[in-house]
Amino acid sequence: MFRAWNFLVILPLLFALRKLSRKQRRQSIISQSDERVLILGASSGIGRRIAHKYALRGARVCVVGRRDDKVTVVVKECETDNTIGITADFGNVGDMIRVRSKLEKEWAGIDTVVVAAGVSALRPLLEVAGVNSEQNSDASEAGIKFAVNAAEAAIKGNYIGPMVAAITFIPLLRRTSRSPSILLISSLGAVIPAPTRSMYGSTKSASLLLYQALAIEHPSIKFSFVLPSTVEGDFRASAVDQLSSTIQASDHTPTDSKSALQIDDVAQRCIQAVDQADKVIFMPGTMRLGHLLYWLWPSFVEKKAMEKYNFTAD
Ligand SMILES: NC(=O)c1ccc[n+]([C@@H]2O[C@H](COP(=O)([O-])OP(=O)(O)OC[C@H]3O[C@@H](n4cnc5c(N)ncnc54)[C@H](OP(=O)(O)O)[C@@H]3O)[C@@H](O)[C@H]2O)c1
Repeated sequence: MFRAWNFLVILPLLFALRKLSRKQRRQSIISQSDERVLILGASSGIGRRIAHKYALRGARVCVVGRRDDKVTVVVKECETDNTIGITADFGNVGDMIRVRSKLEKEWAGIDTVVVAAGVSALRPLLEVAGVNSEQNSDASEAGIKFAVNAAEAAIKGNYIGPMVAAITFIPLLRRTSRSPSILLISSLGAVIPAPTRSMYGSTKSASLLLYQALAIEHPSIKFSFVLPSTVEGDFRASAVDQLSSTIQASDHTPTDSKSALQIDDVAQRCIQAVDQADKVIFMPGTMRLGHLLYWLWPSFVEKKAMEKYNFTAD
């Protein structure tokens, strides 16, 4: 008789076989050395490591970032003649058209687009607007304007950029690749609310939902979404809600930042997600349950989030 526990053995096995066959299917269409990979946001961090790994397996790689010197360094680090570096802002329409023209001329198209670029925002919203919760003061006009400027920078870096990239590169992917893929590096903060990350999480969430809807509108393209928790590195330096250096802001470093994910592991999982056409990857994987738990027991998740960010409510 077929018992329920048989499912526990057979289901993961079927799942693994399905992934393997999807990987083999893509590789039978495009060999690793023929793959043409565009990485938006590859001048540092996770995108840079993804560039190294694709270059190592022989792919053609295009490294994009705004800092010219860093782009040049990453191209050198890739150590192949197959790497192109372009200094460009992915939220700038002219820049993205320039990248598209260059890749069409050099490679006659692209197979994989990795959207790694993004900016952080690290402070409680009312603190950004200069509200002093101890004095119970109202936000000043200047404070509200400061918060709006920070939000506009977050929207540009985390939503407009991915949107411009999608509009610019989806038609090129469809026209020129026999197995087109798009990978968006989103964040756990896009699906599980966290204190001090209201601006960051909400803007990352906007691009995640945008790309999830695009995946339905363009079924011929395989979309993957990687949602990491805190990753080692210097992402905090890109914060768009920083005060001037003379004013001290409260520090809300996650309490578990010492156990942050390794850049190498995240980069490896991103490439694997593209190879296997995985849809949504939580890192660590247990956080998929955290997302579900929020809808079942929100107060528990809120408490854990406050602990993680060492946050005390007023
Ligand atoms: N680090 C974390 O804890 C963490 C956790 C979860 C998710 N993530 C996500 O992972 C992604 C990569 O972050 P990371 O940790 O690798 O940080 P990072 O080292 O700051 O890398 C971000 C990259 O994006 C580029 N970039 C930013 N804005 C850009 C723009 N407008 N146009 C072109 N390039 C742009 C940066 O280069 P330029 O400055 O040279 O333009 C840099 O190469 C981000 O999307 C982030 O939201 C990070």
